[in-house]
Amino acid sequence: MSFILRLNHISKSFGAVLALKDVSLDLGDNEILGLLGDNGAGKSTLVKIISGIFPPDSGSMCVNGETIDFRRYSGARSRRFGIETVHQDHALAEKQPLWRNVFVGRHLKNGLGFIHAAEEKRETLKLLHNVIGLPAEGLDPDLPASVLSGGERQGLAIGRAMYFQSHLIILDEPTTALSLHETEKVLGFIKKIKEAGKACIFISHNIAQVFAVADRCVVMDRGEIVADESKNEMTLESLTKLLISFNRRQEILHV
Ligand SMILES: Nc1ncnc2c1ncn2[C@@H]1O[C@H](COP(=O)(O)OP(=O)(O)OP(=O)(O)O)[C@@H](O)[C@H]1O
Ligand SMILES: [Mg+2]
Repeated sequence: MSFILRLNHISKSFGAVLALKDVSLDLGDNEILGLLGDNGAGKSTLVKIISGIFPPDSGSMCVNGETIDFRRYSGARSRRFGIETVHQDHALAEKQPLWRNVFVGRHLKNGLGFIHAAEEKRETLKLLHNVIGLPAEGLDPDLPASVLSGGERQGLAIGRAMYFQSHLIILDEPTTALSLHETEKVLGFIKKIKEAGKACIFISHNIAQVFAVADRCVVMDRGEIVADESKNEMTLESLTKLLISFNRRQEILHV
């Protein structure tokens, strides 16, 4: 298997809090990884390091075989490496038109170097239609992103990642604020990521959702990876028991 991502001995502290402790993790280039763990386990901190928000204190990372120089790494660079991260709260700029949301920072240019707005609007309509399944008629790419439902916004953010040929799409709790129906849509998008031959890290507190789409599940507990199992090694029951056992351990330690 070839790897889209390799993390080696990553550690990160915030003051006295050791958020990540010697984390090593490999991700295959067409693997859907479910990342589970209690509040404060270090999941988002790991995601932020991968997507260039801040560097680790120590450790190394390879993306598509290339070792990352953290002194030159950033959110924009992570996207150039084919990594797209979608956050629940600010997946899109809600007041901005749909088409600007898709192409911000990565505009299509015409022969003279000007932004090709008409082409960007056409491509946005195609995306809304093909990826999210909205009817092509009656959709206006000039409408603000706030007209979309929560699930559709997640869908557009994921669709945008597919459009720009991202290799790895990271979804940090994309379904937390969504209705059941909307959640089903997002899980459908994750299946499309798999079919498109790409990789995904999917973070959720909902074990059943993670189990439904992931090829492999990693459990974090207080900054460490404590379990790493492929789908065929576990059942929803065994995974649930495992998570409960770590929650219990944490409760006992906190008494
Ligand atoms: N910028 C920061 N400054 C200080 N402490 C931080 C910062 N970011 C995270 N932490 C701390 O690091 C630890 C790990 O936090 P992180 O957000 O990675 O957890 P998480 O697994 O994503 O939790 P949740 O499931 O609640 O989102 C927590 O104790 C948190 O308080
Ligand atoms: Mg988090």
